Amino acid sequence: MEKNYPAPPEYERFKAAIQGLTGIDLNAYKYQIHRRVHMLMQRWGLTSYEEYFRTIRDNETKQRDFLDYITINVSEFFRNPQRWWELRDNVIPHLINMRKNKRLKLWSAGSATGEEPYSLAILAMDLNLDSKVLATDIDQGAIAKAREGIYNVRQIENIPQEWRQRYFQAINTEKVQISPEVRQKVDFQRGNLIEDHFDHQSFDIILCRNVVIYFSPQTKSTLYKKFFNALKPGGYLMVGATEQIFEYRSLGFKSTGPFLYAKPE
Ligand SMILES: C[S@@+](CC[C@H](N)C(=O)[O-])C[C@H]1O[C@@H](n2cnc3c(N)ncnc32)[C@H](O)[C@@H]1O
Repeated sequence: MEKNYPAPPEYERFKAAIQGLTGIDLNAYKYQIHRRVHMLMQRWGLTSYEEYFRTIRDNETKQRDFLDYITINVSEFFRNPQRWWELRDNVIPHLINMRKNKRLKLWSAGSATGEEPYSLAILAMDLNLDSKVLATDIDQGAIAKAREGIYNVRQIENIPQEWRQRYFQAINTEKVQISPEVRQKVDFQRGNLIEDHFDHQSFDIILCRNVVIYFSPQTKSTLYKKFFNALKPGGYLMVGATEQIFEYRSLGFKSTGPFLYAKPE
């Protein structure tokens, strides 16, 4: 946790109370979450964690706002690692073979603070792809942070050491920055997945993970249909590790693995 937040025990008691109330263990989250928790308290004009907790407990709307606020931009490098190794070992080699070239078009839809598109760019570089990654998000602040590419050292702990050394540069003992060669592989743009029209048959892989949690079933279906149209034949959509698409068949997809859907060739 960063230095200028109220020290335990008030915050420790608050975290325990929030876990009892919502089941969310704030200790399991990275430091940005603590910053957000604190920022929201300030935004609501509250000065004590006791009062903050009572507000969340007693006001349903405030409780929802709190949950939305703390989960919205959370991301990780190589989140759910097995899915990434599936991309590296099976999906991308299959696409290269099918397309007969290494020029794949990749999209991280809901790219938050950049961990996902940069993970994709690192994978692409490791496999010598001649690819750029499109990264879009509705949140301008998240995009600005993503473009900067500065992370806490703890956020890259799970990245294989070889990649950490090759693709990150130390700023000081606490911060690292993603290297310029990875940064220039990613094109960050603001976009609203619900409202925007997507390019037709344009992408080889779309990642849309942990974005649709608050979307209604109808909105999700419409979005998945738009993704289907935006994929080239043979392209893949990967969703988050809790986000199965139950109606994938009626949308036209084949299921080719956990949380992975393919558009028939
Ligand atoms: C929890 S993060 C997921 C980040 C990353 N995909 C991952 O799985 O680690 C969700 C992101 O979706 C973005 N988002 C939410 N609604 C969106 C929308 N309608 N259009 C584009 N991005 C949206 C949020 O701003 C947030 O950055």
